[in-house]
Amino acid sequence: MKTVSLPDGTAVPQLGFGTWRMGEVASEASREIAAVGRALDLGMTLIDTAEMYGEGGAEEIVGKALAGRRDEAFIVSKVYPHNATRQGVIDACERSLWRLGTDRIDLYLLHWPGSTPIAETISGFQQLVADGMILRWGVSNFDTADMKEMWQAPGGSACATNQILYNITRRGPEYDLLPWMKGRSLPAMAYSPLEQGRRVGHLELDPVAQRHGVTAAQIMLAWVLRRDDLIAIPKASHPEHITANHDAARLELDEDDLAALDRAFPPPSSKQPLGIL
Ligand SMILES: NC(=O)c1ccc[n+]([C@@H]2O[C@H](COP(=O)([O-])OP(=O)(O)OC[C@H]3O[C@@H](n4cnc5c(N)ncnc54)[C@H](OP(=O)(O)O)[C@@H]3O)[C@@H](O)[C@H]2O)c1
Repeated sequence: MKTVSLPDGTAVPQLGFGTWRMGEVASEASREIAAVGRALDLGMTLIDTAEMYGEGGAEEIVGKALAGRRDEAFIVSKVYPHNATRQGVIDACERSLWRLGTDRIDLYLLHWPGSTPIAETISGFQQLVADGMILRWGVSNFDTADMKEMWQAPGGSACATNQILYNITRRGPEYDLLPWMKGRSLPAMAYSPLEQGRRVGHLELDPVAQRHGVTAAQIMLAWVLRRDDLIAIPKASHPEHITANHDAARLELDEDDLAALDRAFPPPSSKQPLGIL
């Protein structure tokens, strides 16, 4: 599994695993716990979750899947913007730790920009780092202007990542956000890399998929993973999807593939506001 270095030098797998929509239906729990376990077995050990997912249900699924193997995983969780005051992030993190059944979160993100000044949220994150409850922090759904403001806030340049909507049908961040982040050695985390399974424009993906003998979804994932400054966190609950995504990380797209995909899904030629799902 290829790795990506965070700004503090920690290497994380380039292909992680998402958990949105898990922990919502009790009868699905054992299948979802098994899915997270399978991802770990295959080396997709960066597990992304949030207090929002299933209102804590997804964190409980992750906690159960990690029982006895916490040290194998790199846990990413997120705090709601309405909990992002200095004391609010500390209280929310305590609840997340309890649901996750662990004493530390590896990377804790502000889920999207809210009304609390970012400097105050950062101050809460700094306290959590000092107390060992989180090892590092970052943000999510921050567009370029949000990132610039955050970077100038006290302690803002300690941010470890920005988790954003990015896939072959959502190339807007290539115009200014990804270059801005790359210039600061800040990797991005691409969420919904499969466009939530909708595979918009799959007809255009099919010729490339056929050339490699793989599916359109695998081409979408390999395309995101072509960049060494990106971590992808596809969600999958079906075992065959988890295996397919793992295999996609070994696919190498050549210049002809990339040119064909650029024609079908052109890169941005002007600023586009960051999308959010
Ligand atoms: N920060 C944020 O605001 C934010 C927003 C959205 C998502 N996220 C994170 O990013 C993760 C991924 O995004 P997402 O869940 O929105 O969408 P996604 O990963 O793009 O797509 C997930 C969907 O694709 C299906 N799928 C997975 N692998 C497949 C394959 N190889 N072939 C065909 N279908 C496949 C899954 O089906 P099955 O489950 O049935 O296998 C599921 O329906 C989330 O789970 C969450 O952790 C963060």
